[in-house]
Amino acid sequence: MPQIVDSISALRNTLTPWRGRRIAFVPTMGNLHSGHLALVRHAYTLADRVVVSIFVNPLQFGPTEDYGAYPRTLDQDTLKLVEVGTDLVFAPSPREVYPQGREGLTTVTVPGLSDLLCGAARPGHFSGVATVVTLLLNLVQPQTVLFGEKDFQQLLVIRRLVADLHLPVEVVAYPTVREPDGLAMSSRNGYLSVEERKQAPILYRTLCKVCDSLVAGVDDYGGLEDACRMELTAAGLLPDYCAVRRALDLAVPNAEDRHLVVLAAARLGRTRLIDNIQVIR
Ligand code: PAF
Repeated sequence: MPQIVDSISALRNTLTPWRGRRIAFVPTMGNLHSGHLALVRHAYTLADRVVVSIFVNPLQFGPTEDYGAYPRTLDQDTLKLVEVGTDLVFAPSPREVYPQGREGLTTVTVPGLSDLLCGAARPGHFSGVATVVTLLLNLVQPQTVLFGEKDFQQLLVIRRLVADLHLPVEVVAYPTVREPDGLAMSSRNGYLSVEERKQAPILYRTLCKVCDSLVAGVDDYGGLEDACRMELTAAGLLPDYCAVRRALDLAVPNAEDRHLVVLAAARLGRTRLIDNIQVIR
């Protein structure tokens, strides 16, 4: 059974005797699925102790987003973490993390990268993520922190903040874990109705088609993005964006760039789905 703590003082007390050992950290917002559990399993290949945080971070939700509705399932999450052998779960309240509230709070922003794609559709989201991840890294002080590649833009934002602030932590990315029909696992998939769940894998299939075209040598990125948006719209989704970008920094690629990423976000009913695939050509 992992130790579960909800206070910063208990977290610190537990971590103190572990200093000197290798600690890996998996930050989550809970409602854990196989993707999260794969991160924890991978964490054990890199460290002696694994810490998981479960915190639905209010800072990264817009005023009209699903902060209130986001599933909070600590009991079920704990049972799942028992299976993969987590040492410590940090599950604080918003008051514990932000005792002074949001007003005047010190925040962390990675400019540029945070304003594109998902950042354009969700203003302030990546600043909320960057702030809580910096705060959690400061509390846990792990040698390694793990993130899923499903949130590709989030991963780049975090890599950039770790580099810019010289945080002494290695950021490890783990490949997206998918359902058998290709849908990327996400805590938000639970919002999908039965009918929407059947439609949802079109997002992955459409991204796969764009990747096939890139590998075949097509370099009309604008044309590929338009076709991707049209295909998603025809399937009943409402795309926010479809984009072919350089994987390093999400810049628009030029002819020499070999490592690309195709990203899309689209609404299906009340659910916002995101996915991406990397391509080396
Ligand atoms: O990816 C998530 O679940 C969240 O954005 C994170 C990294 C735990 C920060 O709240």
